[in-house]
Amino acid sequence: MTQPRFSPAERRALIDALPKAELHLHIEGSLEPELLFELAKRNGVEIPYDSVEAVRAAYDFSNLQDFLDIYYQGMSVLRTERDFHDLTLAYLERVHADGVVHAEIFFDPQGHTERGIAFDTVMKGITSGLDEGQRRLGISHRLIMCFLRHLDEESAFATLEQARPWLDRLDGVGLDSSEVGHPPSKFERVFAEARAMGLFPTAHAGEEGPPAYVREALDLLGVKRLDHGNRALEDAALTERIAREGLVLTVCPFSNLKLCVIDDIADSPLKTMLDKGLKATVNSDDPAYFGGYIADNYHAVADALDLSREEILQLGRNAIEGSLLAPAERARHLAAIDAL
Ligand code: ADE
Ligand code: ZN
Repeated sequence: MTQPRFSPAERRALIDALPKAELHLHIEGSLEPELLFELAKRNGVEIPYDSVEAVRAAYDFSNLQDFLDIYYQGMSVLRTERDFHDLTLAYLERVHADGVVHAEIFFDPQGHTERGIAFDTVMKGITSGLDEGQRRLGISHRLIMCFLRHLDEESAFATLEQARPWLDRLDGVGLDSSEVGHPPSKFERVFAEARAMGLFPTAHAGEEGPPAYVREALDLLGVKRLDHGNRALEDAALTERIAREGLVLTVCPFSNLKLCVIDDIADSPLKTMLDKGLKATVNSDDPAYFGGYIADNYHAVADALDLSREEILQLGRNAIEGSLLAPAERARHLAAIDAL
């Protein structure tokens, strides 16, 4: 028998050793059932579950909206600055074990302000968690504020105004929540203002929505990165354009599987994207809900798609190159990848 070129054990070791940047992570989606219970008790919030097992059993989704309904309900236990701090630090501690060296974190301010939690409470808690993670674990970070696309433009503009005093701690804006029926065009003016404020623009597009939504994200929102982007592959000209412009795609394999965007992890578009010259990356999206953090996502796709050593390294490099890190920091992480 011929020896495999790259054994499963070698693949596992390479992924474990890879210095990882996570570019698509909703901090509210890292709320593990154990912490959900702890915070519900701490804050006297009623939740419709009587055990951690019952919570996990409820995480059975047939589409994005199914998930979002439970995700927004889960957020209701987050009330104080300390809650947001604990949530953020718990994520960083967990991914430190996965070899994450840099994390670009999404949060959904409207998911909190809509239920009476002050924008400043959310910001203070998340930023203090990020700072402690940087100090104690050495994980660098960027913070990206997402607009909920099922809400209106006026609410997004109001959120952008609340963000103004925090511009030194905010790095970008994103667009998330229910995609179909809420095209990027709805937020063209908000994104123009956010870009004028110096915020980096990214958006969820082509997760469930059609290629036309991906085009709108590029043309109308001026996004510099695409979150998911799966359905862009249905349009050859669009795919070529994304490759030519060198846009990074933040792909989330377990999320795609759990939200029925794909039927099997082997159907992840990651390898096809790499083959077409797209700068795809591996991310976890909402790991507490989708059954795995970033390293689990890497292992699952690498096994299912039989990724080569070079493809795994390329995924790692794409994430560092697509990050908002300063050039010197990028170069340092890329050198560490080259040394593997
Ligand atoms: N909010 C949290 N996770 C999301 C996802 N995968 N798509 C859209 N909105 C989200
Ligand atoms: Zn997402």
